[in-house]
Amino acid sequence: MLALDGLASEHQDVYRQTRLLVEWISTDFYQYDTTKSKKAEPTRIEQLSIYLEDSLTELGESALLDGVAISNGINAARELGNLPGNICTPTYLANKAKALESEFDTLKVKILEEDDMDKLGMHSLLSVGRGSAEPSKLIVIKYLGGDKNDAPHVLVGKGITFDTGGISLKPGAGMDEMKFDMCGAASVLGTIEAAAEMQLPLNIIAIVAAAENMPGSKATKPGDVVTTLSGQTVEILNTDAEGRLVLCDALTYAERFKPASVIDVATLTGACIIALGHHASGLLSNNDSLAENLLKAGDYASDRAWPLPLWDEYQELLDSNFADMANIGGRSAGTITAACFLSRFTKAYPWAHLDIAGVAWNSNGKEKGATGRCVPLLCQYLIDLAESIDMPEHDHH
Ligand code: BES
Ligand code: MN
Ligand code: ZN
Repeated sequence: MLALDGLASEHQDVYRQTRLLVEWISTDFYQYDTTKSKKAEPTRIEQLSIYLEDSLTELGESALLDGVAISNGINAARELGNLPGNICTPTYLANKAKALESEFDTLKVKILEEDDMDKLGMHSLLSVGRGSAEPSKLIVIKYLGGDKNDAPHVLVGKGITFDTGGISLKPGAGMDEMKFDMCGAASVLGTIEAAAEMQLPLNIIAIVAAAENMPGSKATKPGDVVTTLSGQTVEILNTDAEGRLVLCDALTYAERFKPASVIDVATLTGACIIALGHHASGLLSNNDSLAENLLKAGDYASDRAWPLPLWDEYQELLDSNFADMANIGGRSAGTITAACFLSRFTKAYPWAHLDIAGVAWNSNGKEKGATGRCVPLLCQYLIDLAESIDMPEHDHH
């Protein structure tokens, strides 16, 4: 028997409290045992009673259904994050997308292979997987729950299934945690799964840019210059700043869908952990009302983000003598310069970037593992959009 109590947020309502209760119980029961020889004892709830006034039962029921869908998305994202890099490869992520396609009639999947990406000119994305034996993939999942003519909302996830740093090799200590470098991709997959389960009346497209960053003999070297899908060239001064290199081509690819909004999610910078610690995702955007909506959604869903500035003054840190831009901006403002880099590929639509480096997983002891953030924030953003459908209020920047 459980009682609803106030939860820290400016929003207090029965739908929210019921939903969060369901989410917290269902996510508490998740146990990782996929790569253990002894399977965990499953915890099951026989019955959960939530008492609500008669007038509130309908609201309570929708909270229950949404809560279950969102929890499933969170736990699916955690499972992908927790899987080791030798299992969860770009190919594994592509197969996961195909599995979702067979589970939901409303989902359509397309996988771009390296050849396809080469023909399109996605040489920045391809440069990241060059040093790896695992082929890179661009995974595109369409959820068509809205009107045929509704502009889609696009979610783009960083899917680096292991980040060694490449030739700019990372130090050894704690490097195992770079299996979590696909948590952005995992949260995008978890969110579109939840959206399909909730049957949201929207069109949503998830794009996962998947690659393994390894220092093989064909790997990109510091100083190499690549041409992005956008035509802009990049001098790769540090092969460990690889997330932006896969994301920029995925973000340019997103243009073809004439999106209403594009949100990318990435474990992009260690600097974000320095700036915000492990509580808030970093939020950077070229559109104030989109940013506002995401902040509100995160607060409501108890999965908060916090803004950082994306001022023009920071852009010059990316200047290069040998290409249109460098892929790193030096020691200062690492999260901002990473977003500045992405902003050069997102001028065609309202765009926001969520840096989840500090929140995507726990590092400590028994708690070590993926969190599923920011599935709750993204789901709430989409639920809010679905609810506002009758009073369209889009601002074009
Ligand atoms: N995946 C890392 C960012 C990261 C590091 C997330 C540690 C969580 C914990 C990313 O690819 C990376 O290596 N970023 C570099 C960028 C730098 C070379 C400009 C970083 O943050 O050090
Ligand atoms: Mn890296
Ligand atoms: Zn990375």
